[in-house]
Amino acid sequence: EKVILAYSGGLDTTAIIPWLKENYDYEVICCCIDCGQEEELDGLEERAISCGASKLYIVDIIDEFCDDYIMPCVQANAIYENKYLLGTSMARPLIAKKLVEIARKEGATAICHGATGKGNDQIRFELGIKALAPDLKIIAAWRDSKWTMDSRESEIEYCKAHGIHLPFSADTSYSRDRNIWHISHEGLELEDPACEPNYDHLLVLGVSPEKAPEEGEYVTMTFEKGVPTSVNGKEMKVSDIIRELNRLGGKHGVGIIDIVENRVVGMKSRGVYETPGGTILMEAHQQLEELVLDRATMEVKKDMGNKLAQIVYEGKWFTPLCDAVRAFVTSTQEYVTGEVKFKLYKGNIIKAGTTSKYSLYSESLASFTTGDLYDHHDASGFITLFGLPLKVRAMKMQEIGEK
Ligand code: ARG
Ligand code: SIN
Repeated sequence: EKVILAYSGGLDTTAIIPWLKENYDYEVICCCIDCGQEEELDGLEERAISCGASKLYIVDIIDEFCDDYIMPCVQANAIYENKYLLGTSMARPLIAKKLVEIARKEGATAICHGATGKGNDQIRFELGIKALAPDLKIIAAWRDSKWTMDSRESEIEYCKAHGIHLPFSADTSYSRDRNIWHISHEGLELEDPACEPNYDHLLVLGVSPEKAPEEGEYVTMTFEKGVPTSVNGKEMKVSDIIRELNRLGGKHGVGIIDIVENRVVGMKSRGVYETPGGTILMEAHQQLEELVLDRATMEVKKDMGNKLAQIVYEGKWFTPLCDAVRAFVTSTQEYVTGEVKFKLYKGNIIKAGTTSKYSLYSESLASFTTGDLYDHHDASGFITLFGLPLKVRAMKMQEIGEK
């Protein structure tokens, strides 16, 4: 029987290969999903095979990730607990989908992952697999009763005992997860919320605002129906736009957040996320929406965005609710077309002008000089009716002598 192992090439998932063979007698097929982690993929096949895998798939999902997972979240302005742009969360369902596709192609009966039993990732992988392939067995190595390794040292020892010598060291760095949208950092000094992050040591995608250039930099972007189409006049596909915005945002110290978040499994956890390009993209998209969306739609959309953030964080991507929320969001994007300009300066994104042929902003209506469309006197009757319920209540309270 065959098992598909979600393989990163790191120590954890590498140790799982001999472990699976020893404890389950599976043929192990490794699958490395490239969602833009920018890791060295050369030599990965050799490593997997030398550790006992029969095959390694490398699957590039970057464009699908950007178009079908990231963009719906950008359009929804899906942000978890007011800060987290969901970089890790969004990638998990797509990784699950690819693992299932390969399992089908190979006729495998199980999928194995190396997420820990304390995190959110195990939930996202497993909910994704269950939704797409309820018949497949899921092996969560770290939660398995046959798993005996509890540290990097013990994993290295285990591999050695199985004749596998790896270029990994026992000392730990931050627990990181990187893709084209973000990099997350957890662990080390971050585990104490009283500690300031050691940014010089920690940052990977850019610099802190203090180290950013003294000079700001203007950027223009165009959108069509809620999808970014160009940066500084150059047309690009979404993945290239995100790369370019990562470069610009990283340079200017944009998109570094430090959060204590609530994990699905119950505990609070502290993380620092770098999302330079993503932060710019979401702001720019919102800058345009301000101009073209009507008030009532914006109000509902805000709720839907929060709902989607929750759904994505909890790994419920492949659900009817997620489809329905996304359909609402898609429908709101019909007129999100136009151009935004802003300046990046020491961690800030400063608006520098927005235009759209669908703009609902009317200068004559908004300005203080009187026009034809709006008669100040109309406001009197409106306020009388709008304020009627609270006035009635206040009168009643006065009458019965309560406040
Ligand atoms: N706390 C974030 C989330 O739940 C980031 C998780 C990072 N995952 C990892 N395997 N290092 O989405
Ligand atoms: C993990 O346990 O794999 C990382 C942490 C998380 O999923 O939140």
